[in-house]
Amino acid sequence: MPSDKSVIVAAVNQVLSEIPLPGTPSSIVKSGVIQRVIVHEGEVTVVVQFPAGLTTQQGSISEQIEDRVRTIEGVEKVTLLHRSETPAPTADPAAGAPGVEGSAVGAKDIPGVQNVIAVASGKGGVGKSTVAVNLALALAARGLKTGLLDADVYGPSTPKMLGTEDQKPRATEKDTILPIEVHGIKTMSIGYLLEDDSPVIWRGPMVTGLLRQFLFQVEWGQLDYLILDLPPGTGDAQLTLVQSIVLTGGVIVTTPQDVALLDVQRGIQMFQRTSVPILGVIENMSGFECASCGQITEIFRGGGGEAAAKRYQVPFLGKIPLEPSIALSGDGGTPMMKTHPDGALGSVMTSACDQIVEQVSAQ
Ligand SMILES: Nc1ncnc2c1ncn2[C@@H]1O[C@H](COP(=O)(O)OP(=O)(O)O)[C@@H](O)[C@H]1O
Ligand SMILES: [Mg+2]
Repeated sequence: MPSDKSVIVAAVNQVLSEIPLPGTPSSIVKSGVIQRVIVHEGEVTVVVQFPAGLTTQQGSISEQIEDRVRTIEGVEKVTLLHRSETPAPTADPAAGAPGVEGSAVGAKDIPGVQNVIAVASGKGGVGKSTVAVNLALALAARGLKTGLLDADVYGPSTPKMLGTEDQKPRATEKDTILPIEVHGIKTMSIGYLLEDDSPVIWRGPMVTGLLRQFLFQVEWGQLDYLILDLPPGTGDAQLTLVQSIVLTGGVIVTTPQDVALLDVQRGIQMFQRTSVPILGVIENMSGFECASCGQITEIFRGGGGEAAAKRYQVPFLGKIPLEPSIALSGDGGTPMMKTHPDGALGSVMTSACDQIVEQVSAQ
């Protein structure tokens, strides 16, 4: 129950803030050793990152964390994850690249950016970018400062969806990049930097390097939320991206077919491997409503996304119907959330946005 969960979160924060960081006047919470606390049905996961030079005291601090959290009522299991020990994925087999740069070692928050949410999918063409773009606009419509980073280097589509294809980002004197500002959000995509449509062969380490530049060298300024449109799939390349930054949470987009179960499962595993909380599943292209008679036809055997969310006990954030206007607006550069906020897509995105904000503020 959410109330139990928030009580446990508060109690965990309280006991952790009483543990001092040796050699400093502050606690392990204030000094940033505690990176994240995740509570899931009596199971508490504490993500820690110790500063260099604290090797000898790490064991005793870890013991204190475990002992104190275990005494909290309702806590059945305590797991400590050391950020620097997050397993680095093996080589990206598709790219044939040896090893991968940029594992969680050295991962850091982007200055000024409060929350980073990754939007993932098991495969391409399911509406991941449509959701990422419209979710960013839904957050902005709530008055939240929002950015959208198109991390899908293999198929950057957000410039087209936002109608900003012809724009070019400017560099500053500090060699940083200014994001494009449109519809009240800040956005960046490799699509703005490519000269023509010639395919770029991105190898694993190049993708991670580029993403890091986009995260840390773009002038995002103060943002409440940065939405990341990940490349489609849940393989090593995506895992590396997810790992290279401290993410607030992940959203999985899927279609309603039965195979969605497997796609969602893989998405969940990808986020779990990197201890990223799963904010929920969105089912897209759920049924087609006839414009003249209003009858809903299930194009695919419906409900796979919803069933998967239930089965893996992650929140279900809503279903978006298959609608020609959604495709037209995306391809035409005028997102539905902007033109029809109360339409089929808009209302689902607004509700999903509110559920996400609620979960994030409870974290
Ligand atoms: N609910 C929907 N109804 C109709 N068309 C949709 C819907 N969702 C996405 N589309 C269209 O499907 C295509 C693929 O969507 P996109 O968001 O680019 O998917 P992905 O990023 O997963 O590859 C786009 O042309 C988009 O406009
Ligand atoms: Mg896309």
